[in-house]
Amino acid sequence: RESKLQLVHRHIRAFSDFPKKGILFRDICPILKDPAALTAVIDLFEEHVRKNHQHVELIVGLDARGFLFGPLLAQRLDVGFVLVRKKGKLPGSTVSVAYDLEYGKAEAEIQEDAVAPGQKVLLIDDLLATGGTLYAACELMKKQQAEVLGCMVVIELKELNGIDKLKSHSVFSLVQY
Ligand code: PRP
Ligand code: HPA
Repeated sequence: RESKLQLVHRHIRAFSDFPKKGILFRDICPILKDPAALTAVIDLFEEHVRKNHQHVELIVGLDARGFLFGPLLAQRLDVGFVLVRKKGKLPGSTVSVAYDLEYGKAEAEIQEDAVAPGQKVLLIDDLLATGGTLYAACELMKKQQAEVLGCMVVIELKELNGIDKLKSHSVFSLVQY
């Protein structure tokens, strides 16, 4: 019988030269289109958290594709979900950090009251490439004095060494390329 991991793997496809020439884009849309594959993703994340991060208090999801998985996982774990957004999307007082992308530049932002000092958080996104996005989110958590237990992604692009940028933080991925 096919494992959950195999099921997830089978629902990731690749597009050459998107969004720019030379980028091989890994697309997770087929996972969301298949309820069994999406359940498998959340099951695998949940198993990891229950085993390694039992004391997590908050799931922090990254704009935009971290929003697809984060709230589902947070509900499973019975903890809250918080959004890290691209700059200019969140109302009220915010904190922001600039970062570089594999194919551009961006700024990550969070509401000032989203995370309390000392709160134990896990960060979630669809994919780790250069690590710039997750690094920026970790910097935001540092500004908020939150305790980052780790980072979780569906896909890790190994050749870009994103893990090196996240040094002190553990990174859990389901699929590696
Ligand atoms: C992609 C991806 C991650 C990030 C990974 O999002 O979903 O968030 O890039 O790259 P990095 O490890 O090099 O930082 P993108 O910024 O393209 O935006 P989107 O989610 O709005 O499509
Ligand atoms: N797929 C999706 N998002 C990404 C990628 C990719 O290959 N690289 C950087 N962000």
